[in-house]
Amino acid sequence: MNKALSQVQEKSLLDDTRTFRKLELNYRKNRSQDHSPEIDSLASRFRYEEAKDSYWNPEQFSLLYGTPLWEQATEAQRVKLNQLYWVAYYSQIISAEIATIFFNQTSAAGLYAIEDFRLVCDTMDLESAQERSHINAFKKVGEDFEENVFGERIFTYHMRGPFVETMICHNSNRVKEFWRWIELHAFALLSSDNAFIGCQYFAVRGIRTLNGKLIQHQLGQFYSKHTDKEKEDFLISNVPIPSQLSYCHFLDESFHFNSSTIISHDVLNSLRRPTAFEKWVANRALLGTQADHYHFSTAINGLFWYDPALFPKVYKILRSPLFDMDDRQARQMMVDCFTKETDGLHLSAHSRQTAIDSYRQYLADIDYVSRDNKEMSVMRRNSVAAHLKRNSRELKRFFLKMEAQ
Ligand SMILES: [Fe+2]
Ligand SMILES: [Fe+2]
Repeated sequence: MNKALSQVQEKSLLDDTRTFRKLELNYRKNRSQDHSPEIDSLASRFRYEEAKDSYWNPEQFSLLYGTPLWEQATEAQRVKLNQLYWVAYYSQIISAEIATIFFNQTSAAGLYAIEDFRLVCDTMDLESAQERSHINAFKKVGEDFEENVFGERIFTYHMRGPFVETMICHNSNRVKEFWRWIELHAFALLSSDNAFIGCQYFAVRGIRTLNGKLIQHQLGQFYSKHTDKEKEDFLISNVPIPSQLSYCHFLDESFHFNSSTIISHDVLNSLRRPTAFEKWVANRALLGTQADHYHFSTAINGLFWYDPALFPKVYKILRSPLFDMDDRQARQMMVDCFTKETDGLHLSAHSRQTAIDSYRQYLADIDYVSRDNKEMSVMRRNSVAAHLKRNSRELKRFFLKMEAQ
């Protein structure tokens, strides 16, 4: 900051040389190692035909893994459940990243209003461009898969804006959706005109990315374990392209997670102390994340999807030529998979518990964060017993609704 001229804030990011260096290093390394060109190239070369017979993820990351469906599936069906996991998982990531691009920009606008924040904003520009490359690749693979296997959409969707519900399979209704729309608009306006709220968007982004990191690390390992010698040689590797995409994406996202952490924990110290209203808004946003991450899904380990929102999709998959079940068989299979304790259910519950523990650790040293958020008390209210009860009730409703149609 130019000391001879008056500035509006008392502290400067430049005075905190340790934080500034951390930010600079993260930005420089992300720029030099940027995986978007490889991701673009992989996406443009993807042909479903060439990857159709391989696993794309470690086996346990398959749709309905550890349930009766998985136990009874043939090897060919298991391969498809494994690929379906990839498509479902990254369809959720697309939605999250569309919102991320938007809030990266509104938050950068809020922070750019104070001196010396160019580096933070340049970092956001780079990350947003990378997200566009990620989205393009996930969309290409997901849509090619669904067109070839089902001839219609199951988990993918046409391009959308940032103001719709971020969670694809969620527990919602028209009123909740409208309220969500209002909240997102309010947060966008506030973050673009308030440095503290802009800065603390990154606490929200940090915990959201943290769960992604826990799962995507394991998805990325599938590729790196297969290609020890040629890890960096994406073009000649014969590992399926979706697995390579998981690996490259994980590497880009590691930098995004670092920047979230530096901005929400360290850069925060260069801002003036928040007002009661600002603290309230930032805590509301964290509570919103807890609400989004309340459920866990028997069908898909690592996403906080609401199983009942998946029932129509799973029914469609079971009736498709892939499993070729009649109505009675499909219903019985859904009862067995969704309303009883299975290994798959416990694996998903365990991943969610790991997420809760990591979130608590992440927020522990941020002063303004409320006790409800530090302890993740909203998320902790859910349990395996409550999950099974809800699934049983909603599955009955789903069957009744089908009969009424
Ligand atoms: Fe991404
Ligand atoms: Fe990201």
